[in-house]
Amino acid sequence: MSPISRRRLIAGTAAIGLLGGCGSPQRQPGIATPQQLHADISVWDAVTLPSAHVSSSVTVTYGHGIEGLPEFPGDAVRPEDLGGGLFLQICGDDPDAVRDAASRLRPDGRLRWREKGSCNSGRTNVLGFKDGIVVPKTPREFAQEVWRPDGSTFAVVRRMKLDVAAFTAMPVADQERVFGRRKHDAVPLSGGDEVDLSAKTPDGEYVIPADAHVRRAHPLTAGAGLMLRRSYNYDEGLIFISYQRELKTFVNTMHRMADGDALLRYATTTSSAAFRIPTLN
Ligand code: HEM
Repeated sequence: MSPISRRRLIAGTAAIGLLGGCGSPQRQPGIATPQQLHADISVWDAVTLPSAHVSSSVTVTYGHGIEGLPEFPGDAVRPEDLGGGLFLQICGDDPDAVRDAASRLRPDGRLRWREKGSCNSGRTNVLGFKDGIVVPKTPREFAQEVWRPDGSTFAVVRRMKLDVAAFTAMPVADQERVFGRRKHDAVPLSGGDEVDLSAKTPDGEYVIPADAHVRRAHPLTAGAGLMLRRSYNYDEGLIFISYQRELKTFVNTMHRMADGDALLRYATTTSSAAFRIPTLN
């Protein structure tokens, strides 16, 4: 590892996501760049990210705490786990490199909470369902849904404890009705490639139940834009991380879910915060 400037350090693989030519602001990595397998997520009472030497295989993303995320029904967030000044997302495929980077990047302030996360190449969560299917994928979708015109974005980070035992005790067919997708291959219960919210059974019931997660969270139902969900599993559930151009995309979706999403019967949010992810200048 060689000494590098703060900009190089934070940029990591920042060649991807350049806004313009040399000297112009750069979008942070760890958002549009492919999701790496391991993550160290932390929230601090701090203002700035310190300089440190970290492996170039690691992606560092940081943000500053913002207001505007309300408390949602059912949240169980202790005051010390609510909000925070600085968000640090350190990702890499090599867990040792992530651990090493996390030990070097110590912001000057109090640590509020930290969680180690991981994902697998199939992107299955701890409930056994595939995640990350309906998200922005093309540069055009990223430009419309994720990046603000100046190259910044907003992150929402919520640690969600999941009752894996209660969920997996249900028959698989009931688990599938909670999500609205099949467990073994993630095909929507309505069939085909895309979720069809209008599909009905011969009895006139919705094929994708009224309280299914993919219905409640669907941009059409939620009246919201499409967020980039880039979550990680942790030992007790999901570190939900979303990036979106406007905070209201998350807020509207979460309100719609709180209004009757079957998945929330198995989830308890224990940390919650929103951050502005600035460009690297
Ligand atoms: C409790 C933890 C959660 C789990 C385990 C979870 C898991 C999933 C899964 C498996 C899917 C279907 C596959 C896919 O489209 O990627 C999905 C879809 C989705 N989830 Fe979640 N999710 C959780 C919480 C949330 C939260 C808090 C939000 C935002 C408020 C959210 C927003 C979405 C959206 C927008 C979709 C796509 C819906 C569609 O258009 O089909 N999820 N989630």
